[in-house]
Amino acid sequence: MASTDSAAVDYEFLASSLDALLGAEDDLIANAANTSSLLYHALPAVNWLGFYFTRAQGEDRQLVLGPFQGKSACVRIDWGRGVCGTAAATRTTQRVADVHAFEGHIACDPDSRSEVVVPLIDGRGEVVGVLDVDSATPDRFDARDQRGLEALAAVFMQRWPVHQP
Ligand code: SME
Repeated sequence: MASTDSAAVDYEFLASSLDALLGAEDDLIANAANTSSLLYHALPAVNWLGFYFTRAQGEDRQLVLGPFQGKSACVRIDWGRGVCGTAAATRTTQRVADVHAFEGHIACDPDSRSEVVVPLIDGRGEVVGVLDVDSATPDRFDARDQRGLEALAAVFMQRWPVHQP
């Protein structure tokens, strides 16, 4: 299934559109809100798209819900839990063809059947959040979608403030 919908998406054009939309703005909330809106409306067969950002929770870290498009979602995800927490803890994009088969998947929207989560890594090498994209279609995302979403996440991260240690 991924092929038909995915082939219709010009990820290079979408990345330039996102770059133009964000421009020189570096406000995190504004950029995350506009990124989620642009991508949600541009990508076919997506039912939820948005951000979780890293927040300290005592000695631990959690992912806390940020700007998104779609139905209301769970607010806090423990580091290493679910698809999002796994992407954050492993610093690796998770592309899940069948979320029901993913141990520990967190069902925020019961419609979601497949999912891609891209970790967001800042200039210090810290995982500062994730970009989460869900579909109600099983096996919606192929390797091309994954590369396209990683490139889009990189455009978003170009505006991330660089912190000095
Ligand atoms: N399914 C995700 C939780 C976030 S929602 O999909 C918006 C997960 O397992 O981490």
